[in-house]
Amino acid sequence: MSQQLGTLEELPEAYRDALSKAGVAPLWPMMRNVLPHDAPQPLTKPGHWTYGSVRPLLIEAGELTPVEKAERRVLVLCDPGRGPGAMQATASIYLGMQLLLPGETAPAHVHTPSAVRIIVEGEGAFTVVDGEKLPMCEGDLVLTPGGEWHDHGHEGQDPVVWLDALDLPLFVYLEGSYAREGDLQARRNRPDASEVEYRSAGLAPSRQAHRARRYPMMRYPWDRTEAALRAMADHGDGAMPELDYVNPETGADVLPTMGFTAMMLAAGMTTTPPRRSCSSAFHVVRGRGRTTIDGQTVEWGPKDTFSAPVFASLSHEADEEAFLVRIHDRPLQEKLGYYEERE
Ligand SMILES: [Fe+2]
Repeated sequence: MSQQLGTLEELPEAYRDALSKAGVAPLWPMMRNVLPHDAPQPLTKPGHWTYGSVRPLLIEAGELTPVEKAERRVLVLCDPGRGPGAMQATASIYLGMQLLLPGETAPAHVHTPSAVRIIVEGEGAFTVVDGEKLPMCEGDLVLTPGGEWHDHGHEGQDPVVWLDALDLPLFVYLEGSYAREGDLQARRNRPDASEVEYRSAGLAPSRQAHRARRYPMMRYPWDRTEAALRAMADHGDGAMPELDYVNPETGADVLPTMGFTAMMLAAGMTTTPPRRSCSSAFHVVRGRGRTTIDGQTVEWGPKDTFSAPVFASLSHEADEEAFLVRIHDRPLQEKLGYYEERE
């Protein structure tokens, strides 16, 4: 039963002044703002950042600002609902496009928020996480979990661009966000764990429990992801193939707060996922199509990124074969006990 609650204006001015002086405020006029009925009322609005518009600005940033002056040369994708300058794409997800030029180094640091890189363009760049050198090839997903030292380098010939996804807004909200800087890391002289311990799906090295690593695999090569999606498309039931990126030791989401999936849409395919309580962002690895988000249509092409608020009604349609990576905050919501899907 919905009741009309009292407003601030109904209260005598002297009483309101006394409340302010005492450093308190009445809850009831604000009750519906903080506890709306039935579903949240997100500030987040759908965003769409075409690679055609972001790339030239990023390349220009490479001319205007040396990496030494930027530490990380990033253009942040700002949520239209929060406006220009918003350091977030949704309430909990930060997205940024990062540029590294040949020969550049992004110095080592460690911070409380976790990051994931999705490689957008170029070859020859690498990330070092906890001494492990991770090649960055187009479409790869590379983890730099909170608390892990990381630096970036570039041994190739052309600019490299990747999409950063971080749980930074959450850490800022919690007043828990900070970084430390350090020296470049010594690199172990061996391929990364995706090429050694976790080369084959379903197989993990036998280890004593006390040697278990919290983040055993930091790189998810795109060629394997695409091959797995294609196999599902060839032998599936006609539904859109979608794969969760998981920790190969535990099967859990790759990070505590953020989750990632890889989606494959055949040419002409339309798919309508349930309305989810998590917010989401989509990066187009390849292909063209459109997504309707709460009635608003985004026409997307290769390397574009777009976002959707919580409980958004989504419908994806591909004009040509398309691969998307979906970024979401379901793991966080599950830990908080309120993740939900509605048809
Ligand atoms: Fe970082």
